[in-house]
Amino acid sequence: MSAQRAARSEHGEPQEELAARLRMLQELSGLGVRALARDSGLSSSSLSRYLGGQTVPPWPAVISLCRLVKRDPRPLRPLWERCSGPLPAPPRSSRHGRPRPRNDLPRDVPDFTGRRAELTAVLAAVDSHRVVAVDGMAGVGKTSLAVHAAHRLTADHPDGQLYVDLHGFTEGREPLDPDPALRMLLGALDVPSEKVPREGVEELAACWRSELAARRILVVLDNAADADQVRPLLPGAGASVALITSRNRLLGLEEVPPVSLDVLSPQESAELLARASGESDGSGGRLARDPQAAAEVLRLCGHLPLALRLAAARLRHRPGWTVGILVARMAEGTGEFDAAFAMSVR
Ligand SMILES: Nc1ncnc2c1ncn2[C@@H]1O[C@H](COP(=O)(O)OP(=O)(O)OP(=O)(O)O)[C@@H](O)[C@H]1O
Ligand SMILES: [Mg+2]
Repeated sequence: MSAQRAARSEHGEPQEELAARLRMLQELSGLGVRALARDSGLSSSSLSRYLGGQTVPPWPAVISLCRLVKRDPRPLRPLWERCSGPLPAPPRSSRHGRPRPRNDLPRDVPDFTGRRAELTAVLAAVDSHRVVAVDGMAGVGKTSLAVHAAHRLTADHPDGQLYVDLHGFTEGREPLDPDPALRMLLGALDVPSEKVPREGVEELAACWRSELAARRILVVLDNAADADQVRPLLPGAGASVALITSRNRLLGLEEVPPVSLDVLSPQESAELLARASGESDGSGGRLARDPQAAAEVLRLCGHLPLALRLAAARLRHRPGWTVGILVARMAEGTGEFDAAFAMSVR
């Protein structure tokens, strides 16, 4: 399929189409997520967000993925441009001197599935404590849940919705130190440089807290390594809130209620597999025709959302496959599922 046709496809947003094209490149490469990330110089978590359609990759990332499978990236450019939209305008003050509130949130997962109790727990913790820490293994859906909750909370936090990847578990990258993280966040709020302390994490944290105290801001602190990395970034007084995610349970954060994520229930897994493979409507689909093989896919995926998405993508891109063929390929251990599991036990 040409990039132009992909961009016009009726199957959804251009971002979804771009993700589908990237998954095809991955299939061509024959590599799992981890190996592909390593060979293309990307982090596994960023790559899985690109492949899952959650984040639009920067153009150089598209180029390096294409290069890896010796494909010309240029035909993908129009599609990529449609996903990226117009470049953000530089911050401008309105006539009344109020800058436009910033919204950095990644896109909400369009077919967000299940997690009712956990979403309720996150929203309740934000309501009572103004902070929450979501923990769980890699690929279990922490970022997706936090971002989903953040979109729900946007209306209550009209002065800005910020997102920062703290790179606590990004392969090949050191976790982001609180000092640069605070400078980034203060920059995102357009705090004039003369107000930002020149040095000292405590001073920067105090400046950040006083900015938060004066506004209604929501911040997602994604992928935290540990309590020490996050503590200086938390709001103090006022109405601003923070949603933290980490593969670790952040026991050192007093006063921050934890919400632990486990893999999906069998029913939620079945729903996600069906929706993500485009077979959720009606009973005529391949999954519905072969419930035994479908159950085996769920089992092989360990009910892990990341693995389920990969399985769904394969099914979607192989209209000629039965679910039984997918099971056979998965059982052979053809890379990507192994990679998903390797990531989650890391
Ligand atoms: N509730 C859900 N509904 C639909 N898709 C989901 C859900 N949860 C997770 N996913 C999908 O599973 C994949 C992994 O999810 P996510 O990136 O949120 O995991 P994570 O726990 O943040 O992983 P990591 O520790 O690597 O950051 C993504 O492709 C995401 O779209
Ligand atoms: Mg994450």
